[in-house]
Amino acid sequence: MSQSNKMWGGRFAAGPSEIMQTINASLPVDRRMWREDLAGSRAHAAMLLDQGIVGAEDAAAILAGLDTIEEEFERDGPPSDLALEDIHMAVESRLAELIGPAAGRLHTARSRNDQVATDFRLWVRGACREAAEAIVRLQSVLVARAEEHAETIMPGFTHLQVAQPVTLGHHLLAYVEMLQRDVSRFFAADERAGECPLGAAALAGTGFPIDREATAAALGFERPTGNSLDSVSDRDFALDYLAAAAQCSLHLSRLAEELINWASPPFGFVQLSDQWSTGSSIMPQKRNPDAAELVRGHSGRIVGLFTGLMITMKGLPLAYSKDMQDDKAPTFEAHDLLALSLAALAGSVESAAFKPARMREVAAQGFATATDLADWLVREAGVPFREAHHITGRAVKAAEDAGCDLADLPLETLQAIDARLDSNVYDVLSVEASVNSRTSHGGTAPVRVREQVARWKALLDL
Ligand code: ARG
Repeated sequence: MSQSNKMWGGRFAAGPSEIMQTINASLPVDRRMWREDLAGSRAHAAMLLDQGIVGAEDAAAILAGLDTIEEEFERDGPPSDLALEDIHMAVESRLAELIGPAAGRLHTARSRNDQVATDFRLWVRGACREAAEAIVRLQSVLVARAEEHAETIMPGFTHLQVAQPVTLGHHLLAYVEMLQRDVSRFFAADERAGECPLGAAALAGTGFPIDREATAAALGFERPTGNSLDSVSDRDFALDYLAAAAQCSLHLSRLAEELINWASPPFGFVQLSDQWSTGSSIMPQKRNPDAAELVRGHSGRIVGLFTGLMITMKGLPLAYSKDMQDDKAPTFEAHDLLALSLAALAGSVESAAFKPARMREVAAQGFATATDLADWLVREAGVPFREAHHITGRAVKAAEDAGCDLADLPLETLQAIDARLDSNVYDVLSVEASVNSRTSHGGTAPVRVREQVARWKALLDL
């Protein structure tokens, strides 16, 4: 048995068993929030001074002590001694070593319950902004590559079958759109976390004349939270972050999957650079898209971390329960995985060598301009679309039987299928004509892609 805890051990004769200490301590995880803990303590101490709850001399000693701790942690890192239990107590016990009994006044009108809720909210809000910035970096790379490939033709797929030709620029910009919605989810999570729980104390508020508006403002929150029980009970702000991270990681995993497919030799649409691929230890010809595969894999982990915290929170009674200490590890891990994924994809896309000739070749196979033939019948011969679809199906069959592309069918063959087809139809059967014609708002035509590139460059300040 070790000594009883210095902070809360008054009624305990003996200290915790070693295993109890290990299961109880969160310092190895929450030491990462030391900056947020110091910020919260500074705001609280300054408020206690302003409200006359702590005297000027003690408050000055506390604030100076916190400055010293900041220097120490900055230099040596925060401690990880399990006996200190968590980052809140690690700071407070160091403060006591530095300034003596005055340190004990810092915890007036405060509990670790509102303290941890505040620290973690601050951390999550910062993480939302970091994630948004990392997303914008990936978007910037995608926009640059889209501009370069505004006219590059590739096959567009549905059901992974060649469907209609599209431009590579258009395809890449699709991800820029998805990522923008991810940015807005992180911004919304940040905004929703904008109420400060500090001052809720253990669960019921406090009888001390604290100024919660002041601490909220000092910590960059919009306002204090309105209900002390809610303040210390909920972790929905972390779940909001994780939901946004999970959704973003799903988008990343789809882009990763496409890079993996495209880099596979039967596709041959892209060669990933040496920096973002690995070789095989046995098969010298291999060039494996490991970074993209890990991004695809990490999304599974991030979704799992989100699910895990939801299940931790499910069914907990108000207010604080120690289960909630398990909120940080999944959130931190998801944040690190997402940051890595975003950076790895930005690097992979930036350095990828796309293969326009191969993409065009595949786009021209598989009768990708069949829809253009049907549209021509509707437009030029007034044929109802359903009938045009049928006629086109017969043309596709004829091309298939002849082993050629639609554009290579002789006019007689086309006219035998339907007399309304004339030589002008060949104008729409090339993949270039097909993409150039798709000028509807949001369409794949190079002119539209260039407009969208310009819009994104302005929006992202590129
Ligand atoms: N380490 C704890 C956590 O992360 C801090 C709050 C502890 N509060 C308590 N009453 N034990 O959740």
